[in-house]
Amino acid sequence: MEKNNKPDSLFEKIESEENLEQNELIRLLSLTDQRDLTRLYRLADQVRQKYVGEEIHLRGLIEFSNYCRKNCNYCGIRRDNRKITRYRMTMEEIYTAVREAASVGFRTVVLQSGEDLFYTGEFFAELLHRIKTEADVAVTLSVGERTRQEYQQMFQAGADRYLLRFETSNHVLFKELHPDSNYRERMNALTWLEEVGFQVGSGVMIGLPGQTIADLAADILKFKDLALDMIGVGPFISHRDTPLADLPSGTVEMTYKVIAVTRIVTKDTHIPATTALGSLGPVDGRLKAMKLGANVVMPNVTPAKYRALYELYPDKICLQEETAYYRDGLTGWLAALGRPVASGYGHGKKGKGRHRDG
Ligand code: 5AD
Ligand code: SF4
Repeated sequence: MEKNNKPDSLFEKIESEENLEQNELIRLLSLTDQRDLTRLYRLADQVRQKYVGEEIHLRGLIEFSNYCRKNCNYCGIRRDNRKITRYRMTMEEIYTAVREAASVGFRTVVLQSGEDLFYTGEFFAELLHRIKTEADVAVTLSVGERTRQEYQQMFQAGADRYLLRFETSNHVLFKELHPDSNYRERMNALTWLEEVGFQVGSGVMIGLPGQTIADLAADILKFKDLALDMIGVGPFISHRDTPLADLPSGTVEMTYKVIAVTRIVTKDTHIPATTALGSLGPVDGRLKAMKLGANVVMPNVTPAKYRALYELYPDKICLQEETAYYRDGLTGWLAALGRPVASGYGHGKKGKGRHRDG
């Protein structure tokens, strides 16, 4: 009995790459002893090395609109937040930002916004067509729930990947947090994206009010179940102008544990060290995340005048840096890790993109 309470047998199971069950994931996520955590993180780092190698992929993030039709309770750009100044970038502005990111070496751009129906399927088709004929970048879209037809339109126009987090696999919690979304519909959207041909990314927040360790273990099993290409997890950060203003944020340590266990369970996925993680601690937590499973960073390349307005959560890092400076700075930061920056597009394992990695 006593032996069973020690994590050694769990670590051995990880080493021999056996499947872990939910109660085992719960035990891993409950570890607090520093020696145990060090061992867990080392194992996750080994899995990362074996399945996705040493390269770190940079994705240039362009937040092109902070209008949103939804009212997610945690989010600073939710519809009912009247305290923020809203902005929409024009096609020309988005395109210019993409060109700039491409010119300093980014091989992927992520175009993200609130759920803003001002931008139609046709808009994305035209933008994508332009980007794909004139810039050499893979494109990830992250614009929320849309119709299957719109997803099809975006993919056909050349978008390679799509990010849509399910935020939590606990249906009750999902409902509490999302007054105008439905868990089933979110999952259907993820299925459509997959069917349409996208490399699909999803993820959750860590430390949501009422979320348990069992929920996080279930989230990780859901990642595996969905056979995702990319998985983004970051701490929930409480925002003053939302209904969750007075609730505590998630922790850096739990985020590390979820990243490590996600790497161990899902093996060959792309896992970013998220901006939310970098923003929470006194030191940038993204560096450590890179040593326990993460292999992607998404520097913000939104034009400086809009950047501070895309405030999903407070104290977001890197509000000032210009695109080129940031890429150079970050490359040095990554060099300190002794890991190379990837020069290819960094497609997901399914390699559904239309380019070959090179
Ligand atoms: N804290 C942390 N992450 C947040 N997001 C939105 N609001 C917050 C917050 N307050 C995340 C959600 C969303 C992604 C774009 O940003 O997970 O999917
Ligand atoms: Fe809108 Fe996304 Fe924020 Fe929800 S999380 S309010 S959908 S931007």
